[in-house]
Amino acid sequence: MTVKNNAVPESSSDAERRRQYYYIDRCKGILAEKEKDAGRKLTCHVETFGCQMNARDSEKLRGILEEIGYENIESEEADLVLYNTCTVRENANVRVYGRLGRLNHYKKGNPEMIIGLCGCMMQEAHVVEKLTQSFRFVNLIFGTHNIYRLAELLYQVFTQKGMIVDIWQESDVTVEELPVDRMYAFKSGVNITYGCDNFCSYCIVPYVRGRERSRRPEEIICEIGHLAEDGVKEIMLLGQNVNSYGKGLDEPVTFAELLSKACRVPGIERVRFMTSHPKDLSDELIKVMASEPKVCPHLHLPLQSGSTRILEKMNRRYTKEDYLELVRKIREKCPDISLTTDIIVGFPGETEEDFAETLDVVERVGFDSAFTFLYSKRSGTPAAKMENQVDEKTAKERFDRLLALVQEKAKKSCARFEGQTLPVLVEMKNSQDESLVTGRLANNITVHFPGDESLIGQIVNVRLLKCHGFYYLGEPA
Ligand code: 5AD
Ligand code: SF4
Repeated sequence: MTVKNNAVPESSSDAERRRQYYYIDRCKGILAEKEKDAGRKLTCHVETFGCQMNARDSEKLRGILEEIGYENIESEEADLVLYNTCTVRENANVRVYGRLGRLNHYKKGNPEMIIGLCGCMMQEAHVVEKLTQSFRFVNLIFGTHNIYRLAELLYQVFTQKGMIVDIWQESDVTVEELPVDRMYAFKSGVNITYGCDNFCSYCIVPYVRGRERSRRPEEIICEIGHLAEDGVKEIMLLGQNVNSYGKGLDEPVTFAELLSKACRVPGIERVRFMTSHPKDLSDELIKVMASEPKVCPHLHLPLQSGSTRILEKMNRRYTKEDYLELVRKIREKCPDISLTTDIIVGFPGETEEDFAETLDVVERVGFDSAFTFLYSKRSGTPAAKMENQVDEKTAKERFDRLLALVQEKAKKSCARFEGQTLPVLVEMKNSQDESLVTGRLANNITVHFPGDESLIGQIVNVRLLKCHGFYYLGEPA
């Protein structure tokens, strides 16, 4: 087994990029030989767990594997399978261990199969320990800071014996402009920051993704330009907390300024962003959202809890009143905006009164949708050591009440566009009805309407005939 615990790498992004292209070439040669021996094309599959950031990372991983020569397939019965993992809640980890059993079964039928694991879960020492001891059939383990090194690591798998493990604790180098295989031709995520400095007391992200780093604005705008030239109409600017973008750059830039610049890129029709932390959402940003037609009228604004007492324990640095005031200001300037949120139920010490405050905010704001989570204890975070952990039964019962209210409000809110004609970016053929296509309104609501494959990637005006809870049925206008 090769275990390395590298410190910050010294090489610059450019040198690093050249280095990775060198390894891509080396791997290409090796793979061609392997294909000759096997007498067939070798296949790969990258499975994503977790958030939009991971989904974007997976596009980069897939890009590198395809450049090396692998054919990407949907099935996990491939010659190389890579799990890009998440560890934000414990059940994400449990799922990965469960599915590894199935991969081992496939490997028994294909002993040359390469199994790799990367992403957030691998940044936890106890996970790597368990894998190296009890999952010996895994060939490659790496973390969040060195995903761009996939080709180099794969070269080691090809040329060395045993499991390759390479986890970095930190990195100040971000390497872009390596091959990317986008999931959609017409839309793409664009990373603007990496890592998080907020240390919400329940959250493991700052420990597994490291300190917040902003990419330079020129680099981001250049990437968006290339995407637009390649047919992308919609971009989503990605960061754990996009509102704090720009800190630490040689010439600090605000997120609002970056957003305006992104809208200026020719060919880009829609700009989204994710995620916003309420404590950093500026008036300047609200102004840009209100005045710039390309910014989608959708804001994902995690509440986490409606109780000021719990918010303080969560280290969120806003109160219930601050949150409600922020929503008021946003709605005043952007009346049609869709608001979505994340809420955690059962944080340590949450009483029935605290929970009632959360229900109160949901009632008052009327979110268009909300991701609701049962609090999950993450070892190493301050909340894991807090007293009065809420018992499972109480948390589950609150969760169900919250979900019922969220759904009732969301249904009402979603229906407010019935009868209107709005542009839909068509994403795919409908999975259930051949005669329909499926797309999204600028506010992110799903719409199904009659059409064929030729519409995919186009923005079509659609009359919204009927709201069915969380989606619309429509007809081309
Ligand atoms: N338990 C439950 N939910 C969590 N989240 C983050 N950490 C935890 C945890 N320990 C949720 C937050 C965050 C979303 C991405 O995941 O709501 O906004
Ligand atoms: Fe986690 Fe808070 Fe950072 Fe979001 S802002 S990633 S919840 S620490």
